[in-house]
Amino acid sequence: PNAVLGLPTGGTPVGMYENIRKMYQEGKMDFENVTTFNLDEYLGLTHDHPQSYYYFMNQNLYSGVNLKPENINIPSGTASDFEAECKSYDAKIDAKGGIDLMILGIGPNGHIGFNEPAEILSGPTHTVDLTRETIEANARFFDSIDDVPTKAITMGVGSILKAKKILMLVSGASKQKVAKELFSGDVTTNNPSTLLQLHRDVVVLMDEAADGQ
Ligand code: PGA
Repeated sequence: PNAVLGLPTGGTPVGMYENIRKMYQEGKMDFENVTTFNLDEYLGLTHDHPQSYYYFMNQNLYSGVNLKPENINIPSGTASDFEAECKSYDAKIDAKGGIDLMILGIGPNGHIGFNEPAEILSGPTHTVDLTRETIEANARFFDSIDDVPTKAITMGVGSILKAKKILMLVSGASKQKVAKELFSGDVTTNNPSTLLQLHRDVVVLMDEAADGQ
């Protein structure tokens, strides 16, 4: 009842949020003392922008359950000082005692949050340039690909791996290649999700399309 949750956005978790709202309505869940930390946000989009992750979370979760506004956290995409915003986001997570359950999606390029494949990955929360692949994958939510922001603020792989338990949701055929690598035994920053193999307590839920068997 007093869990600290790390939460994802995207197409994959929409059904999960729908079920959570339903269970809340049926009295099976109570968010009175729950705290949430979202993984990431686009830079430049305000809370009322329909493609901002705050807006998504409000539609899919916040407006449908009894979370207290002061217990809702999403990195700000419109902060005046991003370095300070990143530091204070990680400090807030630490002050809450860390994340109990981190729920993740995965991008077709293996990103977790907006930790994109790269030679070097950042541990703490940071700002990032989105890859062409991610911009193309997310263009489906925007009127045109030119409207997709090119930068974001995201929890780092260190912030994610500090969570006590991780639940990863993998859906769709576009994830087949990266999902296979997730179980390969090899860890590479070219597929950030493979770093989850370094964590002791990860559950992966995968649909048949992503599994490809
Ligand atoms: P999706 O995105 O659920 O919309 O496929 C997941 C992600 O990019 O992390």
